[in-house]
Amino acid sequence: MTRSKTAVVTGANKGIGREIARRLATMGFKVWLGARNAERGTVAARELRSEGLDVQWLELDVTQDESVAAAARIVEAEGPCLDVLVNNAGIAINYELPPSQQHLADVRATYDVNVFGPIRVTQAFLPLLLAAPAARIVMVSSSTGSIGRALDSGNQSVNLMGYGSSKTALNAITVAFARELAPQGIKINAAAPGYTATDLNGFRGHRTVQQAAEIVIHLATLDADGPNAGYFNDDGPLPW
Ligand SMILES: NC(=O)c1ccc[n+]([C@@H]2O[C@H](COP(=O)([O-])OP(=O)(O)OC[C@H]3O[C@@H](n4cnc5c(N)ncnc54)[C@H](OP(=O)(O)O)[C@@H]3O)[C@@H](O)[C@H]2O)c1
Repeated sequence: MTRSKTAVVTGANKGIGREIARRLATMGFKVWLGARNAERGTVAARELRSEGLDVQWLELDVTQDESVAAAARIVEAEGPCLDVLVNNAGIAINYELPPSQQHLADVRATYDVNVFGPIRVTQAFLPLLLAAPAARIVMVSSSTGSIGRALDSGNQSVNLMGYGSSKTALNAITVAFARELAPQGIKINAAAPGYTATDLNGFRGHRTVQQAAEIVIHLATLDADGPNAGYFNDDGPLPW
């Protein structure tokens, strides 16, 4: 009997993460739906299971060492390995204030989730990812993390210091992990889902979660010829 592939998606109780979980489960993955809140997590997992999908809530707050370690232990207890990790959980607090007016506490809280969270989660699940034949990790980044784009567009594009720079840092973290783990067959890439209607931006984004999930699913299911250490949106590579 062939083993079902498994995936963990952080911040998957709503928004883009929930759609990523739904898509992976539709493709036959057993999906651990990461959520920090029990009610939100169980409700989302139950809804997806009612569509006939193999989805289970996994308690996971990416800012808490013990929560992440406990989540890794639960996944380990149920199977020998983990095929896909999607570091999707992210926040944006008072993100549209000009850089000169941003509150350091907001920037720090943003980094806690968007930067330190993916490091913590990736390190905790690494033994399970290394046990898989060809694991894939996707960091859900943003085009606002592109320094090249910011410089190219001058003052035409948004200037989100705290949130944008957290994604720039996440891009650097993607490359660092990818360089270390490539010899062991793991591919790690960053995905920019585009401006999407979710809670994160008060549903002002113009893309749907289905559109946003597309690049993430592509990078989560790359074959052996696929890229490593890249930064992509639907149209291809983005400037760093
Ligand atoms: N929407 C866009 O336009 C856009 C564009 C580019 C990139 N992104 C990125 O896409 C990802 C998903 O965002 P979204 O738009 O789908 O936002 P969303 O609807 O607000 O969802 C964010 C998810 O992250 C979770 N989360 C927040 N803090 C967490 C923590 N400490 N531990 C675990 N989970 C936590 C949230 O859980 P709770 O419900 O418990 O808060 C929620 O499930 C983020 O990384 C975001 O930066 C979004």
